[in-house]
Amino acid sequence: STLYVGRAEEILERVLPEGRTIVITDANIDRLYPHLVRRYDYIIVGQGEVCKSLQTVERVYRELMALGADRSTFILGIGGGIVTDIAGFVAATYMRGLEFGFVSTTLLGQVDASIGGKNGVNVADYKNMVGTFRQPRFVVADVEMLRTLPKRELRAGMAEVVKSAIIADADLFERLERCGEGIYDSVEDMQEAMMSAVMVKAHIVAEDEREKGMRRLLNLGHTLGHAIEKCTH
Ligand code: GLY
Repeated sequence: STLYVGRAEEILERVLPEGRTIVITDANIDRLYPHLVRRYDYIIVGQGEVCKSLQTVERVYRELMALGADRSTFILGIGGGIVTDIAGFVAATYMRGLEFGFVSTTLLGQVDASIGGKNGVNVADYKNMVGTFRQPRFVVADVEMLRTLPKRELRAGMAEVVKSAIIADADLFERLERCGEGIYDSVEDMQEAMMSAVMVKAHIVAEDEREKGMRRLLNLGHTLGHAIEKCTH
């Protein structure tokens, strides 16, 4: 995959393939960025972890069929981790696989969910039980889009950046300590931290795409987090 950092609209004009694109997104993104979503055919999925389900996937397949999507259709997921997980899984399986790309709109998505080719949905309260490894053609990370994110969501993403620093980038860890809360006020600092975290993940995934060994490092905090989510709904 190629990662593009910058203004989503401009980058998409350059990187989308010729032919038909269908967007998969959620209502929030459609409300905030209608000019981006509505220039293509689009499918809206629900918000929240409970919507990351096989029922949603089946509904999206049906909508794709109704829109006449075929093997030449390009799927563009625009959203956070829930949208990109669903869009990636749908794209990997509809008609045995369509090409796809993402515009990642949350910090958490930019540094983790959209990178590395994992996709999938939850089954019976178990997170990410069904899915595939399939790399998107591209991921677009537009830090300007983070302006509309609630602080809590920024912190959730920053926790992933700290995780990446703990795993493999002591220099990033020091920078984060130095910036402290101030990082949220500086688009440049956020972008630099985001890119460092992406590099940590990209290097690990390049070595171990299928999580046979070192990719497990990326689950630092996740395994416990999944258990807490399961026990507390
Ligand atoms: N979210 C952990 C991984 O992509 O491996």
